[in-house]
Parts: sequence; structure tokens; C-alpha cells
Amino acid sequence: MKIVNSIKELKSYLAEEKRNNKQIGFVPTMGALHNGHLSLVKRCVEENDVSVVSVFVNPTQFNDKHDLETYPRTLDKDCALLEPAGCDYVFAPSAEEMYPEPDTRTFDFGTVSAVMEGARRPGHFNGVAQIVSKLFYAVEPDNAYFGEKDFQQIAVIRAMVKQLDIPVKINACPILREADGLALSSRNVRLTPEQRQKAPLIARTLKESTN
Ligand code: PAF
Repeated sequence: MKIVNSIKELKSYLAEEKRNNKQIGFVPTMGALHNGHLSLVKRCVEENDVSVVSVFVNPTQFNDKHDLETYPRTLDKDCALLEPAGCDYVFAPSAEEMYPEPDTRTFDFGTVSAVMEGARRPGHFNGVAQIVSKLFYAVEPDNAYFGEKDFQQIAVIRAMVKQLDIPVKINACPILREADGLALSSRNVRLTPEQRQKAPLIARTLKESTN
């Protein structure tokens, strides 16, 4: 497994893979990997010749400075999990590498990004579209994998690839949960014991309301 920090180096490795007709699968992440991420990597490895995983905490999608500063960063541990999972390339760029200049692009996805999380976190989905489009331009994957935990994010990314005409297949993968129903998430480590105890109520209530 190669760990690559620059777009140029990544492109040169992947150009060689593409010359050899390899199908490229891609899992974009912000690191602090858990079994949910690893289930995406597993599917990516099964369905492609070459698997690329990016680890980048994208500043433009955080509308809360404190959330960005405290987001868990565990690159060494992430790499130790990715190698046995069959990942071929870890792309771990710096913020300067991804944003040599500020990204001033503003996307309009209509209702898809305006409601629910889009309404609560202004600018969040615009930042997601900025970074995921940049990552797609860097990797040029045939397949990309996203977790259904971020259901609205998948809808935004599907709208983005349509608008920008990016030739990639977006694959949605099922949510992984703890035994008590809490969806796996990198941010779960930040819950206090009391919050952790209450958190599964959200999934339970949603489930009951659909019965
Ligand atoms: O879902 C995430 O972890 C992030 O939003 C993503 C897709 C990696 C973009 O930074």
C-alpha cells in the first residue's frame, strides 16, 4: 500500500494503473476510520482492480470552527487498518495541496441541499461538493463508495456529478450500527458517557415512527 500526499504523484501512479486497464475504485473519507468505513473499503476492493482511499479533513465543509478543530485525526491508525483491508493507495493531502487557492465555486442543488442538514449547516454541502469534485478530478475513479448514514450527502453528490458531467458510478452502501442501534460514526468518540447512552434513542424513535 502506498501513502501519497500530492495530486501529481497520485495521478502518475493511477495513470500507470489505467494504462494497464485497471478499474479504479475510490472511497473518500475524513479518516478516524471505523468498521463502517471498512465496509465501504471491502466493497471497493471486491468490485475493482485498484482501491484508493482518501483521508482528508475538509475545512470547507465545516460551518463550526470548534467541530473542525476537534475532529479526530488518526492517520497512522487509519493506514494500519487500510493495509490489511486491501487498499492500494491512501491519498492523504494537506489543506494547501487541495486548496492552493480558495475554492470560490458555489453550487446550486436546489431542494436536495437546502433542507434537513443543509438548512442546519449553511455551506456544508457546498463544501462537500467542492472537495468531492476535486477528489474525483484527482483520482478519476470508475466507482466511488459512500455510506447511507449520510443519505442526503449521497443525493448531493449524485446531483454534483450530473451537473459537472463527471463519469463515475456512485455506489451507496448500508449503514453499520452498534449493537444498541447507534450508527457508527467518527464523531461518536466525542460523546460523553451520558450522551452515548442517550444516542441510540434517535435511531429507535425514527424506526418506531415508521412502523
Ligand atoms: O462523508 C465524509 O466523510 C465527507 O463528507 C467526505 C465525503 C469524505 C467529503 O469530505
